[in-house]
Amino acid sequence: MPDYYEKTCTAPVNIAVIKYWGKRDVSLNLPTNSSLSVTLSQDNLQSKTTIRADPSFSKTRLWLNGVEEDVSASKRIQTCIKEARRLRSLYEQQLLRDGNSEVVPLSEYNLHICSENNFPTAAGLASSASGFACFVYTLAQLYSLPNSLSELSIIARQGSGSACRSLFGGFVAWEMGVNNDGSDSMAVQIADEHHWPELIALICVVSDAKKAIGSTVGMQVTVKTSSLLKERIECVVPKRMEEMVKAIKDKDFDAFAELTMRDSNQFHAVCLDSFPPIFYLNDISRAIIRLVEEYNSTSCNYKAAYTFDAGPNAVIYTLRENADELVGLIKRYFMGEEREQIPSGFRADAVPIFEEGSVKQ
Ligand code: DP6
Repeated sequence: MPDYYEKTCTAPVNIAVIKYWGKRDVSLNLPTNSSLSVTLSQDNLQSKTTIRADPSFSKTRLWLNGVEEDVSASKRIQTCIKEARRLRSLYEQQLLRDGNSEVVPLSEYNLHICSENNFPTAAGLASSASGFACFVYTLAQLYSLPNSLSELSIIARQGSGSACRSLFGGFVAWEMGVNNDGSDSMAVQIADEHHWPELIALICVVSDAKKAIGSTVGMQVTVKTSSLLKERIECVVPKRMEEMVKAIKDKDFDAFAELTMRDSNQFHAVCLDSFPPIFYLNDISRAIIRLVEEYNSTSCNYKAAYTFDAGPNAVIYTLRENADELVGLIKRYFMGEEREQIPSGFRADAVPIFEEGSVKQ
């Protein structure tokens, strides 16, 4: 028997096309509306986590991008560990009942957790999504938990809401659920990573800087102060979720693109409707919106769809046939020598969305 147990896994980011913004229960991290996202390929944006359990560790410790963090100060990490340990302990009892004499009491060991992102953390590029998905998945692997990915998504959700969607590849809905204990607020896969291989995401890194207002705080301001949010969660999102699922199933890029852009715009509108207002977009973000508008006006169908999370960086969904043209256009407008106001860290990379699976060992 080894004297320590260790697992390393990776997880990709996901970018929502119907946005989650607002919590109905802050401590359980239950959302005010369902949301839907696309999981990107791991090549460019990925979290990697190694967790070791060892009976000789005197306490649980965490290193994030090489810097030690205080685990006891993070309620979210504590909750994920507690929930995973609870499941492991149930599993150990089950194994013992089944007559398995060599059950290792992993649920009692302290952990050393090492997590890295290969992209800027907390800059509105869904780092908490891939980070917590990776953390929960790695822990589940270490503990050999028999639970499904949707069940694990309930734990990841309590780390960071959007993380529950990164456990699956392809197109993923986070169903808000109706139960007060959050037992039905989980991620489900709408279509897998092979469903729509022509779809491409273009990531435009406008700024690597950490966002000024974190999502958690921002959402609370919006829930308390925005009257537009009420309209969004009651009247707009439920219908939009249905339309988006249909657009994805039908591979209808026109419908997908319009819903994506409208939902990004409405999310930033509720941010502006918060008091004090929350601004995530900057001048470059708005210039990207105008460029996509112009690009779309060259055809009777949509060729591209922008979306922005809680930061100025853009993700542009397009079809593979347009990817080179769009990358060329973006580079000419924003990175060409004739432009003087190019932001120093500006990058634009086309990312194929689909590859085998999502979380990986
Ligand atoms: C704008 O999942 O980061 O990216 O649950 O508080 O950790 P917490 O929030 P988080 O919020 C993501 C918000 C968003 C939209 C989305 O991904 O759906």
